[in-house]
Amino acid sequence: MTIPPRLVVGISGASGVIYGIRLLTTLRRIGVESHLVVSRSAEVTLAHETDLKVAELRALADVSYAATDIGAAIASGSFHSMGMIVAPCSVRSMSEIATGVTSTLLTRAADVTLKERRPLVLMVRETPLHLGHLRTMTQLAEMGAIIAPPVPAFYSKPRTIDDLVDHAVGRALDLFGLDAGIVRRWGEPTEPEILET
Ligand SMILES: Cc1cc2nc3c(=O)[nH]c(=O)nc-3n(C[C@H](O)[C@H](O)[C@H](O)COP(=O)(O)O)c2cc1C
Repeated sequence: MTIPPRLVVGISGASGVIYGIRLLTTLRRIGVESHLVVSRSAEVTLAHETDLKVAELRALADVSYAATDIGAAIASGSFHSMGMIVAPCSVRSMSEIATGVTSTLLTRAADVTLKERRPLVLMVRETPLHLGHLRTMTQLAEMGAIIAPPVPAFYSKPRTIDDLVDHAVGRALDLFGLDAGIVRRWGEPTEPEILET
């Protein structure tokens, strides 16, 4: 049986819910099945940072699970996926994933991704970072996770917030070998205005 390309997407309660939204719309556009889990806190940030309703956010995914549904498909390693991206990833969720003491479906799915040795990309959003945060990140990197904070790049000459978000999401998808055509790549000018400036 052929398994469709599918990615697990976690949206936690760090600032930057737009990263998760853009990830979902991009996956839909490039034909990658998305399996979404949104934390309770992310529902709060969604209300603060966008005009979207929770149901509208969930509708952007192919399959959406409640954060409390610890019996969901993505809680098991037998569920096939290319891996998981947490976008954005809060310090709280990051810390749970690092310990393996997972209290939500989001962190359980991330733990499963690690144990199955699949790519786990954490777009951790917090600043400044104290030593505990940095130690947790080190621990996760040692466990095989990829710490990918959505730090803007300016060599791509972003003009809008959308440009910055696209770049961060596109670079996260690069880690899965997925090119959604939203990254302006260094050394590969694709638009005339980049050549001119
Ligand atoms: C508007 C808003 C912005 C927040 N931004 C961040 C953030 O950037 N990084 C972070 O780690 N937590 C942030 N928090 C706090 C988290 O939402 C909080 O720690 C929560 O318990 C995380 O739970 P979760 O990991 O289950 O989503 C923010 C909270 C709110 C309401």
